[in-house]
Amino acid sequence: MAKQTPKKHQSPFRMSCRELVVRPEDKKEVPVIREVIREAFAPMPFSTGQEWQLVEKIRQSSGYLPSLALVALCDGVLVGQSMISLLEIEDKKKPHNALVLGPVSVLPDFQRRGIGQELIRIGIAAAKRMPLPVMVVVGDLAYYSRFGFEPAVPRSIHMPFGFDEEDYLQVLELKKGALKGVQGVIKFPPSFFDEKGDLL
Ligand SMILES: CC(C)(COP(=O)(O)OP(=O)(O)OC[C@H]1O[C@@H](n2cnc3c(N)ncnc32)[C@H](O)[C@@H]1OP(=O)(O)O)[C@@H](O)C(=O)NCCC(=O)NCCS
Repeated sequence: MAKQTPKKHQSPFRMSCRELVVRPEDKKEVPVIREVIREAFAPMPFSTGQEWQLVEKIRQSSGYLPSLALVALCDGVLVGQSMISLLEIEDKKKPHNALVLGPVSVLPDFQRRGIGQELIRIGIAAAKRMPLPVMVVVGDLAYYSRFGFEPAVPRSIHMPFGFDEEDYLQVLELKKGALKGVQGVIKFPPSFFDEKGDLL
């Protein structure tokens, strides 16, 4: 698959950051990214505390797409990250390649300034240049609908195990009409699980 690098992006959100740059992560930023994820998720009641491990396992896996693993720098300081990686949606043993968005993190002091939205919008724009039909996300529709995500279950895309999928599984069509050809059960790659078999 052709891997493309999104252009360095200058954001219109200048009220808080004089300069917001969103670009693919650099390997030497891994320790800082780990801390950003930890701090962003720490106050969240649903957090497993392991989201940083998920990102690190995805990075070591064949589903890692370097051009879609983004960081946000506010005046040169790394304050956010987003990960888009590969998974499959399996339909009666026929696999469809797809993308999954997440985790996304912004340091608490920098939240609600549009940084999360910039990371996601730029990631989606880059993903649309890839030959893949859809992207899924496990998250709140109230947030993700602004990017074009819609509930996945009415489109016959399901979680592989007991989960409140009607509320939290969302899907985005990356190519016009692509959802017509894709349905089935999400097959998370091994990088998404801890050693006990629970989702990270
Ligand atoms: C979710 C997150 C990445 C958003 O980043 P951000 O920079 O604060 O987001 P933005 O400033 O671009 O957008 C803020 C908007 O998102 C909304 N929002 C943020 N998190 C939300 C959530 N979980 N559900 C619904 N809305 C949410 C805010 O209410 C705000 O809405 P408004 O613009 O209508 O007021 C950030 O809040 C974060 O790191 N949270 C902790 C980790 C997490 O929950 N990640 C998402 C799951 S992977």
